[in-house]
Amino acid sequence: MVIGLGYVGLVAVAGLAKAGYQITGVDINIKKINSLNNGKIDIYEPGLKEVIDEARLNQRISFKNIAEIKNIDCGIVIICVGTPSRPDGAADLSQVEYTIEWIKERTINSLTIIMKSTVPPGTGELLYKKYLAGFSYKINYISNPEFLREGQALKDWFYPDRIVIGGNNNKAIEEVSALYDSLNARIVKLDITSAELIKYAANAFLATKISFINEIACLCDCLGADINSVATGIGLDNRIGEGFLKAGIGYGGSCFPKDVRALNFLSTINGHNFELLRATIIVNSRQRLLPVQKLRSYLGNLVNKNIAVLGLTFKPGTDDIRESPSLDIIRLLLDEGANVSIYDPIRKNLNINLFRKDQIRFGKNILDTVKGTEAVVVATEWDQFIDTNWSEIKIVMNEPFLIVDGRNCLDPCIINNCGFIYSGIGRAKAHER
Ligand code: UGA
Repeated sequence: MVIGLGYVGLVAVAGLAKAGYQITGVDINIKKINSLNNGKIDIYEPGLKEVIDEARLNQRISFKNIAEIKNIDCGIVIICVGTPSRPDGAADLSQVEYTIEWIKERTINSLTIIMKSTVPPGTGELLYKKYLAGFSYKINYISNPEFLREGQALKDWFYPDRIVIGGNNNKAIEEVSALYDSLNARIVKLDITSAELIKYAANAFLATKISFINEIACLCDCLGADINSVATGIGLDNRIGEGFLKAGIGYGGSCFPKDVRALNFLSTINGHNFELLRATIIVNSRQRLLPVQKLRSYLGNLVNKNIAVLGLTFKPGTDDIRESPSLDIIRLLLDEGANVSIYDPIRKNLNINLFRKDQIRFGKNILDTVKGTEAVVVATEWDQFIDTNWSEIKIVMNEPFLIVDGRNCLDPCIINNCGFIYSGIGRAKAHER
């Protein structure tokens, strides 16, 4: 049984069903269950629908609302519920605690709980003592964090770099390890708290890598160097690696910002001042201000300036806008009095509470969005933006024909040759090659 059918839960359902297991996917949201039972998936994750459809056809999957489950008689329950940020930065564990109590009330035999929700280091041991130790049925607790990237979650499930299994009972560790027998992956077996820390340390390290390259990008702007070339040059060193060295307007999404904040909170509450992590957070918040600074430096004040923002999602390949830098940029532009038009290839609407309806215009396509604008901000590196015919874009825009490339995804030479001013993040010299 998999409880919580968000990104992680649905991918776990799909991955385990594909491996031949019989899976019940459970969620508190009746609407979600109804649409899943009607073959609809409410998230955009490439390939997921196909795997779930196939499993349904083979009768390996069923979806149920939490109220439909009276007894739990399966041996393994996987928890994938949300652990959002609390206002103080800590992870809100209320959904996790509710789920454990719910399992306890319904279990009719001994079982193993696998925690896939991201919970702060120390949580598993605490939950075990608080709810499970000494319970009438033996309940094992295993920490099995996920390392799935939105947009490539299935690939990450089927071809993981490693699988981390933390527990205090060897039999349960082996039982969980066997679930992944069909995957060719290195399995790291360890204690619960260390497993939990691997998840946070991995996300914090990757976030720090991004903030580091963004600091170097700022230096590139000061010195007249090109960050993309610098990143390639350092990334080719195997000890550094090429991944997560793309400079730009910083990281967003439902994971990095939340997990970095939670690790910072956890460090502070444990008496450790995690200076590097704080710097990572500060640099990341600063990066998303840069496009607006750049617009101001070229256009002067932004009152009544027409500006297009291309990309809403926090990265390409997803419809997720949680903590997307794009939203902050739009908010700032509106604060400054600009007229903002928006286009995203996948995300076609915004939660109306985020902005007033009359403040923004959704373009039908790229051309319609940039029509009559003085400047374009590329906030997400969708292929559609990279491959667009920029000469056509220029025809419908107004002077000074400014392109602020917040993701350094465009070729500055092409953009300049089309007659635009190109401004990337740390790409002072890029167009002079
Ligand atoms: C991230 C991790 O990569 C996964 O391993 C992890 O399982 C997941 O969080 C999670 O904790 O559940 P995800 O949030 O899907 O996955 O996104 P990433 O692909 O890691 O990108 C995160 C953000 O960093 C995006 O906004 C992206 O644009 C930005 N980024 C990434 C950069 O600015 N530069 C880079 O070089 C790479």
